[in-house]
Amino acid sequence: MAENVRVAVRVRPFNDREKQRKASLIIDMRGNSTYIKNPEDLGAEPRSFAFDYSYWSHDEFKESANGYLEPTGGRYADQRKVFNDLGQGVLDNAWKGYNCSLFAYGQTGSGKSYSMVGYGSNKGIVPIFCEELFKGVEAKKATAGENEEYQVTLSMLEIYNEQVRDLLNPKSIAQKGGLKVRQHPSKGFYVESLVSCPVSSYNDIENKISEGTRNRTVAATNMNATSSRAHTIVAITFVQKTPNETGQSMTRTSVVNLVDLAGSERAESTGATGDRLKEGSAINQSLSTLGNVISALADLSMGKKKTVVPYRDSVLTKLLQNALGGNSKTIMIAALSPADINFDETLSTLRFADRAKAIKTTATVNESPTDKLIRELREENARLMELLKTGGITLEQLSANAGAGGQNPNQDSSEEIEEMKKAMEEELRKNQEEIENMKKTWQERLAEQENENKSNVDAELKKQEEKKVIPHFWNLHEDPALTAMIVHFTREGTSKIGNKNASPAPEITISGLSIQKQHGVVTNKGGVVKIKAIDGKILVNGAKITKETDLHHNDRVLFGPNHLYVFHHPQDEAKNVKEGKVTETPTYDTAQEEIAKKAGFMDKAGKSEEDLILQEDVIQMLPMVNEADAMSAELDKKVKFELALVSPQARGLKGGKTEVMVKMRNLENGNEWLWDRNKFINRKFLMQEMYQNYVEGADDWDVPKEKDPFWEDADVEVLIGTVHVHLMSLSHKLDIEETLTVTNYQGKENGHIEIEIMPCTPKGEGLGEDDFLDDPKELVGKELNFKFKINFGRGLPSNMRQSCCKFKFYLDNQYTSTAYGDGMNPEYKFEKLFKFPKCSQEFVDYLMESVAVIEVWGKQKDTSPKGGATLGTDTKQLMAREKSNLGDNKQTPVKKKGGNKAADSNKDNGVIIPVPPPPAEKKQNDQQVNAYKKQADDADRRAKAAEQRAASSESQVSDIRSLLTQKKRGGADTITIAELEAMLGGGGGRSTTSTAQKEHMGDQASKACTIQ
Ligand SMILES: Nc1ncnc2c1ncn2[C@@H]1O[C@H](COP(=O)(O)OP(=O)(O)OP(=O)(O)O)[C@@H](O)[C@H]1O
Ligand SMILES: [Mg+2]
Repeated sequence: MAENVRVAVRVRPFNDREKQRKASLIIDMRGNSTYIKNPEDLGAEPRSFAFDYSYWSHDEFKESANGYLEPTGGRYADQRKVFNDLGQGVLDNAWKGYNCSLFAYGQTGSGKSYSMVGYGSNKGIVPIFCEELFKGVEAKKATAGENEEYQVTLSMLEIYNEQVRDLLNPKSIAQKGGLKVRQHPSKGFYVESLVSCPVSSYNDIENKISEGTRNRTVAATNMNATSSRAHTIVAITFVQKTPNETGQSMTRTSVVNLVDLAGSERAESTGATGDRLKEGSAINQSLSTLGNVISALADLSMGKKKTVVPYRDSVLTKLLQNALGGNSKTIMIAALSPADINFDETLSTLRFADRAKAIKTTATVNESPTDKLIRELREENARLMELLKTGGITLEQLSANAGAGGQNPNQDSSEEIEEMKKAMEEELRKNQEEIENMKKTWQERLAEQENENKSNVDAELKKQEEKKVIPHFWNLHEDPALTAMIVHFTREGTSKIGNKNASPAPEITISGLSIQKQHGVVTNKGGVVKIKAIDGKILVNGAKITKETDLHHNDRVLFGPNHLYVFHHPQDEAKNVKEGKVTETPTYDTAQEEIAKKAGFMDKAGKSEEDLILQEDVIQMLPMVNEADAMSAELDKKVKFELALVSPQARGLKGGKTEVMVKMRNLENGNEWLWDRNKFINRKFLMQEMYQNYVEGADDWDVPKEKDPFWEDADVEVLIGTVHVHLMSLSHKLDIEETLTVTNYQGKENGHIEIEIMPCTPKGEGLGEDDFLDDPKELVGKELNFKFKINFGRGLPSNMRQSCCKFKFYLDNQYTSTAYGDGMNPEYKFEKLFKFPKCSQEFVDYLMESVAVIEVWGKQKDTSPKGGATLGTDTKQLMAREKSNLGDNKQTPVKKKGGNKAADSNKDNGVIIPVPPPPAEKKQNDQQVNAYKKQADDADRRAKAAEQRAASSESQVSDIRSLLTQKKRGGADTITIAELEAMLGGGGGRSTTSTAQKEHMGDQASKACTIQ
């Protein structure tokens, strides 16, 4: 009978970061209802959702002596409670012979793995399930007759980027493109050659799962994969062979799928809106298809006919087809973050869970006489053999077996037939294996497996013992489930650190991005351990080492951009404990924070919530930026990445938060693009894919530039900077005629533009002097017409081919844009007549208090240097050159005009030329610190300048006002321009820019424009 998927939600405690920034709680639960409130609209009624189970694991608990989190109040749901409700049901059904599936959904860090696998003594559903299963098996065995047999086998796989890896078979992990997913005509989709290990005890299972997790960690680190994007499926097959009343052997089979899904960050947040490559990455394909499958299934269950369920669109949904819409009893657990900052994600998780409730599956008991199963397999094999022998696969057979390996529907039929044959052979082999397994006694299979396991288990036990006495490194991973999975010993003597291609093999082998053959070396002399970098980069406690450095207990060590370890020294630790000097065990977050701090990115760390959020983003993004840089260097992509903190004003906004963005710079021609976080993350996945193909030796790893994640079209507009126009003069119906500085996000001057705003008649004719308004309030209810002119730009960056200005005035929804002007001194010749027939109070207030923000956008020149200094220079050399320039805070490659003097890149069309050798050993970190400090200082300076400008505009108007009053009193009805200029020129260095001056501006612009 069809029954609904059961859905549970569980909310976790605040994590340290959330506590630190005093996050507020947005989730509440009462009975089976879960409520979520919008932190931006606290007055609104919280949204409510009803689920089969709502687990409050947020508070009302304490940690017991063994680390187990137990309830202190009635509300807290501990691991046991969750198992009793969900896991026990799965267990009961497994005994009955039903297929069961349990999957965990939720954003990264929401608690999926905690519920599924658990941490330490807080065991999750998977281990408790296994423990209970074997308890049951043992109990059965005690009273079992001769012909009863209970068999448990385990497989563990990961889907990453649409590729399947067998976590219990390390060889498959290195297999290019991963394992194939095939379709069996009756059993559905399965993974070819997936190892299924017989296990005889809970201990066996635990060992196998740890082995799988270790393999996963090594693979994730070596491939610099983002592990939270991987789906992990543990499948336990439970077979009971028992005689029925007539003595016939019956086989009852249950496949239990336990699925820990990838973090569910929504499509919008990873989809990189506006990026030409947004569809390119397969990283989200499985998860977004899962969403589509669930929606389609929900529609079907609501009676919407003709709905196509797109199982075939992703590997995950193929493998979960039964779990989602077929023969399975299915439970979903949705993990929720309690914090306000995750509101959007949490709401989307709740909506997803709500849709999943509607899905129906029909589970049947999988029981058949054992003989019958064997007979069916034999018959099936005979049929397959016949087909293969005659070689006559017809198109009908092809479609009858559709999908059996036919992964690409567009393949031509001969290719498809070939593929088909392979699939049949595989099916044959699998069936044969199954027959063999059925014939073999279970004891034989277990014995074989135990033999295989023995060396692994022994090695693991030895390692555990050695860890107690030998100093070693243990790994830190952003996913806590993958932390402390890899260990490298630093034994007495010398241990070389290098990649797998080094010969002789180094004692400490780590592979992956930017790990060199001779990366470094560790020496251990009587327990005194020192580390030295050779060809590779090593950071100890966040700082790059340049000479042999002592290692102490709990030191953090980073090899290349992403192999992060903690050094553990058992004897030092014991000594510390004796002396009462206990050091905190480092975590991934604290170690990354330290790296970011040393790189100068946490200087501004204030205590405001905004600062803390920014800090978190920096900690998340910095390692990714470093990895992207390392990939660019290895693939010789001639681009460099840098983190940029961009204020809302610099993004052309009036308010909002400072955001972390990433600047990609072409090292050959200095072109720069600023990518938002999502675009960068999306691009980084594609870079990883490309890098992986390169590492695997694929000939076609490099792709045409249109598909290249390291390439950006010079035609893509970049924001050169913004200018702020104070509108107060307009409220007095005074002309505004100014040359304004274009300031980029770093506070750097990027040229100037000249604007004029002239009050006029509705027809655009100039106003008389009488029209001047003493008090702007007089404007309320009256008309205001003015011409907005943007005349030209001067001294824009030299790599700009074209530029234009865009702005929104008052309540405009759409941007008004000028035409494109060419080069670094563009002529915009823009003029627009604005008419406000009846000014409202709000509009007058806007004129008096606000600024109009003009954004200057440009398209860069698509110049690759022809010959000259960069020809034949690879990315690593270009980066090294640039690093030496960072000493004087240059963000762009130093360009020179003639001679030896470094010239301002804004005013120079020069080519990049070799830079003199670096001043003796300037540390990169110091340089980054300086660069960041400058960025922060510039931002402060800009803020102050803006204040001054505002104050200056106000005092200017009040000066004019008093001059007017004075003149009126004296009976005069005109003021000469000269008088006005004399007055304005007098105060604080302000002066209007005379036409004569402007004509000569050109590269002197900065001197001429003193009004800002
Ligand atoms: N119910 C809970 N009680 C206590 N701590 C929890 C709970 N749920 C999660 N945590 C803690 O929150 C952190 C993140 O949880 P977890 O690793 O399970 O997230 P995840 O959803 O699996 O993330 P990812 O998608 O990155 O794998 C862990 O440190 C975990 O110990
Ligand atoms: Mg997890």
